[in-house]
Amino acid sequence: MPATLQIQAGSNKLSEIEFVQLTTKADVEENRVACFEINGHSVVLSQFKGEFFALANMCSHAQQTFDNGRVRGHKLLCPLHGAIFDIRDGSVLGPPALRPIKSYPLKIENEEIYICLNVD
Ligand code: FES
Repeated sequence: MPATLQIQAGSNKLSEIEFVQLTTKADVEENRVACFEINGHSVVLSQFKGEFFALANMCSHAQQTFDNGRVRGHKLLCPLHGAIFDIRDGSVLGPPALRPIKSYPLKIENEEIYICLNVD
């Protein structure tokens, strides 16, 4: 059963976002990528100092997945040409990528990790 949370989006408008169960904290080790397919989305999870983050599993440079990528601290390195992204928000930290990658909100409940997929 998905968890639902209502958030304030704009002045008087409420938006409903839905979190779906993805995995457990134990499946996402620090300095490792953990890749998942869920509801038509390919996502890569990583951990930095006990916090968990999710990005779209597709480099914005040449459409390479991060399945064989590396994580060092808060940096995600693309395995194909070495672009570097910030796992915390998907921003570009190093070339050759120029565009950020999508970041997904996560929610942690006990040992479970939930992801919100319906965000822009
Ligand atoms: S495909 Fe990722 S840096 Fe080129």
